[in-house]
Amino acid sequence: MSTEAAAEIGDVLIGEEELQRRVSELAAQISADYAGRELLVIGVLKGAVFFIADLVRRLEVPCELDFMAVSSYGSSTHSSGVVRILKDLDTPIAGRHVLVVEDVIDSGLTLSYLMKNLASRDPASLEICSLLTKPGHRRLSMRTRYVGFDLPDVFVIGYGLDHQERHRTLPYIAALRL
Ligand code: IMP
Ligand code: MG
Repeated sequence: MSTEAAAEIGDVLIGEEELQRRVSELAAQISADYAGRELLVIGVLKGAVFFIADLVRRLEVPCELDFMAVSSYGSSTHSSGVVRILKDLDTPIAGRHVLVVEDVIDSGLTLSYLMKNLASRDPASLEICSLLTKPGHRRLSMRTRYVGFDLPDVFVIGYGLDHQERHRTLPYIAALRL
């Protein structure tokens, strides 16, 4: 890593062990809730890929994976409010039990748009699992069934989350230092 990139890594807010422990807890909870059913787990690219990979490998119910890509932030650290589907699902979701896995819900604009879109496709059930939420999320009426950690209003990097495409591969969640 360049010294410039390394200088952007601030305080570690959630360490690797704590992250992994929570992912296991979420997997156990989801496995219990969906016992006897088959899940379609939808990851939102790219931030959720590390989380979803760890999560689904610990599920005890059969699951299929699919991915969507939406534009939200561009390269700045504030939500634009403009959401575009860059990559849609490969499969129809009508009649399926769908769990949407997201990295972080900040303003919630991205996910509330996505959930409306997915709900219109008639899934049997539709729930959200977000690794992180920020205070803005709590102003929304959107129900988030599974949440890993509630964060204060800080921009974070690591475990899939980026700043201008950097730092996704860090094994912990840290504050961004600019
Ligand atoms: P929202 O529409 O404001 O909820 O923004 C959601 C998306 O913005 C997330 O899926 C992330 O891709 C990105 N985002 C929001 N907060 C952060 C952060 O702290 N670090 C990295 N990406 C973030
Ligand atoms: Mg994202």
